Amino acid sequence: MLNDTNKQKLEELRKRYPTSQALVLPVLWMVQEQEGYISEDAMKSVAAMLNVPFGHIIGVVTFYTMFHSKPIGKHHIEVCTNVSCMLRGCEKIVGHLEHKLGITLGQTSKDGNWTLSEAECLGSCGTAPMFTIGDQYHENLTTQKVDEILERLK
Ligand code: FES
Repeated sequence: MLNDTNKQKLEELRKRYPTSQALVLPVLWMVQEQEGYISEDAMKSVAAMLNVPFGHIIGVVTFYTMFHSKPIGKHHIEVCTNVSCMLRGCEKIVGHLEHKLGITLGQTSKDGNWTLSEAECLGSCGTAPMFTIGDQYHENLTTQKVDEILERLK
């Protein structure tokens, strides 16, 4: 399941980590970076590869919101809807995104370009409202800024 580069990385990591269970997070990252998401088959492979119970792997994948057990869009927009962002107008941002993209929170566009998700506080309360796309933070959002961001990603 892992490509040759990732197999090599895993062998390097095995030398540095005290137990195979400690490798669960880095290996799941490798799988997600390689495949775009972590399928049930991939979870089974990771469990077998690391000799860790399958239930543990499912628990990890479903606990951390940064892991995806289903395919997601090319651009994954995660909008913070927690208190600071709510007080600073995230509802307007969400509504604007839903209108522009033709999807609602939790959905992926039919063309596979966009996934829109709700996120808990992303640690950027001072620049609310905000969202992330991948590892990029977009802050102090207005509907105009959202339009500019979407336009750049088309
Ligand atoms: S509440 Fe939105 S970043 Fe903290």
